[in-house]
Amino acid sequence: MPDVKDLYDLGETPPMGHVPARMHASVIRQSRFGEPAQAFQSEVVDTPSIGPKQVLVWVMAAGVNYNNVWAALGKPVDVIATRNRAGETEDFHIGGSDASGIVWAIGDEVTNVKVGDEVVLGFGMWDEDAPDIQAGADPTTSVTNKIWGYETNYGSFAQFTRVNYTQCYPKPKQLTWEAAGAYMLVGTTAYRMLMGWAPHTVRENDAVLIWGGSGGVGSMAIQLTKAFGGVPIAVVSEESKYEFCYQMGAKGVINRKDPAFTHWGRLPDLDDQAAFGEWMKGARAFGAKFWEVLGERRAPRIVFEHPGEATIPTSTFLVDNGGMVVICAGTSGYNADVDLRYLWMRQKRLQGSHCANVEQSAALNDMVAAGQIDPALSRTFPFDGIGEAHQLMHENRHPAGNMAILVNAKREGMTTLE
Ligand SMILES: NC(=O)c1ccc[n+]([C@@H]2O[C@H](COP(=O)([O-])OP(=O)(O)OC[C@H]3O[C@@H](n4cnc5c(N)ncnc54)[C@H](OP(=O)(O)O)[C@@H]3O)[C@@H](O)[C@H]2O)c1
Repeated sequence: MPDVKDLYDLGETPPMGHVPARMHASVIRQSRFGEPAQAFQSEVVDTPSIGPKQVLVWVMAAGVNYNNVWAALGKPVDVIATRNRAGETEDFHIGGSDASGIVWAIGDEVTNVKVGDEVVLGFGMWDEDAPDIQAGADPTTSVTNKIWGYETNYGSFAQFTRVNYTQCYPKPKQLTWEAAGAYMLVGTTAYRMLMGWAPHTVRENDAVLIWGGSGGVGSMAIQLTKAFGGVPIAVVSEESKYEFCYQMGAKGVINRKDPAFTHWGRLPDLDDQAAFGEWMKGARAFGAKFWEVLGERRAPRIVFEHPGEATIPTSTFLVDNGGMVVICAGTSGYNADVDLRYLWMRQKRLQGSHCANVEQSAALNDMVAAGQIDPALSRTFPFDGIGEAHQLMHENRHPAGNMAILVNAKREGMTTLE
């Protein structure tokens, strides 16, 4: 065994399988909660130990997701206090819910991966022995399911990350580390939303309305809808994002900032006829625009939702009779209104969706490996750019697609451990 050390610089690689006692990490502390640019700071911390069904991964690149904007802000949930209440002792948070890397150590009961395997990581971390899962529940609905690197500590913004064996999937060989680190969370979420809620899965020629088409989940939803034969119509907030959506496969794009749309946010009092009439005018204008860019007068069978409060009234109004609004977030707020008359009379479905199970994650990863879905990598940051990347996302100024961070990868463009 070559000389081993207790701490390695970023870009320096320990002998395969040697786990140094300490590691570099980008750390959030409660005293720094606030703007992401300041909340993340590089520190040296102890390398985590692993349990019998866990895997320690040497992180080559990490993906940037909205959840760690929330972690940095310390709201709506203080993730550190929540874990401390549950008995965990660390007074810091290492975020990061997406990564590509190399298996560096495995627990005694792990058989699906071995040291040296190149992997990408799913973001659901559940206890497969939990009674609800043993009784047949989808693991993403288990009371034990936590989002790795948000609800759990030791995410991918560090030299090592700790995951369950069920989170490991083979890294598509053709991808650079940074591209491989950028797509699993958004891709698998979008896959479950569009293919996980039968009978409302994307069928040939289904029109699908996709909010935030240039964002993380949106860019994946456009590609998946197209791949399954549907017709993706994307919504964005500026025309400079149109081209990206077309490249992803959108048939048409709508600018939600068009002055004809005056109806965003919560519904007015339904008894205030003038205000409700004004709201309806905006919603109808948006519907007419949808028909125009689709090229026919047909409502979306599926609406892919995540803005929440700002858009749910429009989504539930617009979705086709018998169609589904599927939602994974409330980025603009959680207090959304639904005019129930449309929901029951037109037999629409409002479906929550969260995370992705093993089958869905594997299916999405296979599509990426086969070149059917592109990770839509936009910009790659160095390790000390984690705060900046999240700040851009917080201000909705991030580039279209998905951002990545180089962790142990020495430079962009690497596909293996050099
Ligand atoms: N539950 C899950 O499993 C899960 C998984 C992944 C992500 N998420 C959540 O999903 C949300 C989106 O994630 P993401 O990675 O796609 O983020 P993102 O890259 O920031 O994209 C979100 C997009 O939403 C659009 N948007 C922002 N405010 C809006 C508003 N008021 N009305 C309409 N559109 C608005 C923006 O596009 P325009 O400004 O161009 O319209 C933005 O590009 C986040 O809240 C994230 O935490 C949940």
